[in-house]
Amino acid sequence: MQKFYITTPIYYVTDKPQLGNAYPTIAADVLARWHRMRGEDVFFLVGTDEHGEKVETAAKAAGKQPKEFVDDVVGVYKDVWKRLGISYDYFIRTSDQSHEAMVAELIDEMAQNGDIYKGFYEDWYCVPDETFWTELQLKDGKCPVCGRPVKKVKEECYYFKLSKYQGALLELYEKNPSFLSPKLRSKEIMNRVKAGLNDISITRSTIKWGVPFPLDKKHTVYVWVDALFNYVTALGGATGVHFTEFWPADVHLVGKEINWFHSVIWPALLMSSGIEPPRMVFAHGWWTAEGKKMSKSLGNSVDPVEVANRYSVDALRYFLLREMPLGDDGDYSEKSLVTRLNNELVAELGNLVNRTLTMAEKFQGDIKGKPELETSLDLEGINRCIDNMDTFGALDGIFSFIRAANKYVNDNAPWKLQGDELGNVLYNLLEASRVISILVYPFMPETGTRIAAQLGVGVGSLNDCKFKEFEGKIKKGDYLFKKAV
Ligand code: ME8
Ligand code: MG
Repeated sequence: MQKFYITTPIYYVTDKPQLGNAYPTIAADVLARWHRMRGEDVFFLVGTDEHGEKVETAAKAAGKQPKEFVDDVVGVYKDVWKRLGISYDYFIRTSDQSHEAMVAELIDEMAQNGDIYKGFYEDWYCVPDETFWTELQLKDGKCPVCGRPVKKVKEECYYFKLSKYQGALLELYEKNPSFLSPKLRSKEIMNRVKAGLNDISITRSTIKWGVPFPLDKKHTVYVWVDALFNYVTALGGATGVHFTEFWPADVHLVGKEINWFHSVIWPALLMSSGIEPPRMVFAHGWWTAEGKKMSKSLGNSVDPVEVANRYSVDALRYFLLREMPLGDDGDYSEKSLVTRLNNELVAELGNLVNRTLTMAEKFQGDIKGKPELETSLDLEGINRCIDNMDTFGALDGIFSFIRAANKYVNDNAPWKLQGDELGNVLYNLLEASRVISILVYPFMPETGTRIAAQLGVGVGSLNDCKFKEFEGKIKKGDYLFKKAV
């Protein structure tokens, strides 16, 4: 059986998830659901990044012990993912005992490979991003990625010989061009790696909330090393049953600001611990508000649950994936969400299903005929989009089919027909609606399920996207979507 292993970033648990965190989680959910519908064996991983200075500080500010603090926030994460229909197979927490033990083993492996040495770190640190920076890398004295203030760190530490892996990384990028995805971001990474790699500090001695460094317990493992290993520890580590089944990961979906960690540091850590690199790191773009990246710390973020409560979970899921391709940035606008909800979900999808069911319910004759609408569906093209991480293109293909079905109604004017002629048009519209219930399901699980229920069929798999006899029992229900103002 074909397998598919997809991951999202594991988020810092300083606060409840914001729209920016919901975005890759929903995108990965769509891909996971699509691959399941193709009959593949899917492992969809989500989780939380719970150690380090940022979380330690947030816990202190909340007047709680770190463990107590993260337990509470993780509970909120799980509730929100449930509300947004996230069908994850496993939720990894970096404070899990098993994760911590496996991280220690993997670091021992790296040490045995001669890749770790003791040193002293004296430079800058961005706490919100948990990132080390040299003086030269700073931009106007601030973090070059997020623009927030950095602080001076002076401490003994252990280094990882990242420099040793320059050649192997370049070879990886060359041999597997889709490793660095999307294309538009690959050049930058390659050029930086070609320019040379510095060894990186992988321990902190002033932070207590973390995995004890196995070679020297006065140190804790740098939170990013601890976090990256989650993708392997979630499978039970390099000797786990799930590891044999699912590694290498097919896609790590991550935000573009953490592309370097995933495209450079992560494969090097894996090579050092004797593990094959993943197949693809896909760096998605940002939702911005007035041009600035939405983030909790900037105070310009949106609560995805509030949006879902106002417009429905499916309207939110649809909008996030329809507004821009996964690799692009886009300004978040509720007005645009409302426009798409009214013009696409209500007027195209909802209207098609509603008028089809209304006519079919009244019709007394036999619903059968020739599959005329089927040729308007380019399932192969949509599947290709999914393989290329092009959820935007896939939705475009699906909505072309929906528009073709609405045009078919207008062209055939079924209100003027009767008997077999009407039976034939209704047959085509009902089969199209059934196929649409399947196609939209990964994007809008509730809507796909409701369409299928109204048609009186089960939600099928992608193999069922061929027209056959209509076998449903119509039970027209409420409109699928409510128009918003
Ligand atoms: O970086 N637009 O966690 P984090 C789009 N713990 N996506 C956004 C976004 C926005 N405005 N804001 C956040 C970390 N994201 C680490 C990851 S992985 C081993 C460790 C998404 O809580 C995007 O995917 O800061 C980004 O990479 C992620 O949330 C960062 O979440
Ligand atoms: Mg961040």
